[in-house]
Amino acid sequence: MSFTALHCVQSRRDFPALARAHHGHALAYLDGPGGSQVPQTVIDAIADVYASCNVNTHGSFPPSQEVDRRMQAARQATAAFLGAADAACISFGQNMTTLNFALAGAIGRTLAPGDEVLITQLDHEANRGPWLALAERGIVIREVRLLPAGVLDYEDMAAQISPRTKVLALGASSNALGTVNDLALARRLTRAVGALLVIDAVHYAPHFPLDVRALDVDFLLCSGYKFYGPHVGILYSRPGALAALPTTRLSVQDPDAPYRIETGTLNHAAIEGVRAAIDYIARWGHGATLRERLVDAMTGIAAYEHELAAYYHGEVARLPGVRTWGPDFASPLRAPTVSITLATHSAGAVAAALGAQGICVWDGHFYAQKAVEVLGLAAGGGLLRTGISMYTTREELDRLLGGIAQLAR
Ligand SMILES: Cc1ncc(COP(=O)(O)O)c(C=O)c1O
Repeated sequence: MSFTALHCVQSRRDFPALARAHHGHALAYLDGPGGSQVPQTVIDAIADVYASCNVNTHGSFPPSQEVDRRMQAARQATAAFLGAADAACISFGQNMTTLNFALAGAIGRTLAPGDEVLITQLDHEANRGPWLALAERGIVIREVRLLPAGVLDYEDMAAQISPRTKVLALGASSNALGTVNDLALARRLTRAVGALLVIDAVHYAPHFPLDVRALDVDFLLCSGYKFYGPHVGILYSRPGALAALPTTRLSVQDPDAPYRIETGTLNHAAIEGVRAAIDYIARWGHGATLRERLVDAMTGIAAYEHELAAYYHGEVARLPGVRTWGPDFASPLRAPTVSITLATHSAGAVAAALGAQGICVWDGHFYAQKAVEVLGLAAGGGLLRTGISMYTTREELDRLLGGIAQLAR
């Protein structure tokens, strides 16, 4: 089904935070790439764990069996969200960064000095730092170049992949520029040399339907708080891929997937919140199965967000002294995240002025520090980033445009 401006207005009633005002200004949350708001159903689901089964897993008593059941349901719902074969493909952790350190460390232990890992200049540090840390073990870390247009240099990617390449760690979409990377090409190139493909889908997952089996990835990570849920990291592993890895874990930890990479007691309430967020998204779609409803809902939300983002991108580019960064909106494969710089003010000064009017936008490098450096923007304070979510309205973007226009003059 399509997701229209009317659906957006309806959805806003589900998010209690959207009713909050600041000094008489309604708050406009245009900071989705940093984290989205949550619907009441997510808040209720989290609270319900504390009210009804706030006990540890694997006990022989009813509340413990209840929490086991809920954790399994959350893995199943997340598998449906990502298009995974089953719940055994889904591991949870504190956040994406922590899971990626655990994954990179485990993969690193299977590599030999001189083996290569390819990362990119466009990626968030969470998909660079854990791999760069492997250099200590003699692993060679190479980087795919970022072009000034805000897209990766795919010739450079192809040229850098060789039989020595063991991993390509690549973002699905840039949280700084909204670029969507060519995952099919990345898979072809890595397959040809037998390298693993690890995808950071943190910025992609809130904006597009995901299908890990169609993408044919080995590992994919995302984060619940970017798609209307709480702070939980998610790792998808291709069936069999995690079992082969020497993860860091206690001797008493279940050695099977998906538990093999999980450490200690998980945040059960938050994981229940992830399940509720996925259920919430599915409500906006039609279909016989949860998967069908999710794909339908995300397809509709993607089109709605793309149209709004294209509108904002076109209007803001017309303002004097404003420069937009990253690709335009000609392709539907463009995340609804628009970053700009102003000739007259730093991004930080603009964000502060907008913040005082209740407009929540981020400035800086958003941990995509390398990309901001490569674009030559680090010294000037980086980018001003606007993110569009399912609950974003055109009126909010017009308010933002008015605020920027005042400063751009
Ligand atoms: C593209 C991208 N990757 C990774 C991360 C890190 O996610 P987490 O905060 O769950 O560690 C973020 C967070 O902003 C992100 O935007």
